[in-house]
Amino acid sequence: MHYKFGGSLPILTPCFTANFKYRNSSRFCIYRQTFSQLLSLVLDQLTNGMYTEIIVRYLHFIGIFTWVSMLIAQWILLKPQLRRADIQQLMTIDRIYGASAVLVVGMGLLLWLGVGKPAAFYNSNGIFHVKVTLAVVVGILSVIPSLFFARNRRGDDPEELIEVPAKIKRIVTFELVLMLVIPFLATLMAAGVGS
Ligand code: HEM
Repeated sequence: MHYKFGGSLPILTPCFTANFKYRNSSRFCIYRQTFSQLLSLVLDQLTNGMYTEIIVRYLHFIGIFTWVSMLIAQWILLKPQLRRADIQQLMTIDRIYGASAVLVVGMGLLLWLGVGKPAAFYNSNGIFHVKVTLAVVVGILSVIPSLFFARNRRGDDPEELIEVPAKIKRIVTFELVLMLVIPFLATLMAAGVGS
């Protein structure tokens, strides 16, 4: 049986262990052999580049999870009045948000132009362009809360109360809504809808 990526199912053959304690344990032999066969399968595929797309996809998802988590954290923490110390915490969340956005966009560009389906598949897909535009809109909108946190995080008294303009939470809410729509568009375009 062959997997999509060219590997074959590990076949269990008898094995012998020098370790006296496990010498008669066939279960140990099967585990050890299956593990080493799986490892060599993964290494084989890694060395000829077939897992690159999987790793890029995985990192795209990890970035998305982190990005959305940080957005939800900001949404929960944002109140009409915040202590300066809270703003410092929001600033830390915002830095992780920024790093994850870079990861998502970087891996997204690789999926588009580097690995996986040919770029032409995406270039001709209207839903893909809407998806990328919405991601860019989220990125641009996020500059406004980021600037607010950066401007208000410094000060002598960490307990000092800062007024948070209502538009900051509104922007974060809107970003969150867009981030919920984007995966739906991604799933559609990956299935070829919109080409
Ligand atoms: C500029 C930013 C982005 C680019 C260039 C980009 C590009 C891509 C590409 C080329 C794929 C592969 C689709 C396929 O399997 O054929 C993909 C998959 C995906 N992207 Fe993005 N992406 C970006 C941002 C985002 C964001 C912000 C999200 C979520 C909020 C997201 C969610 C997804 C999901 C869920 C998939 C998997 C779709 C599936 O396989 O069903 N992407 N992306």
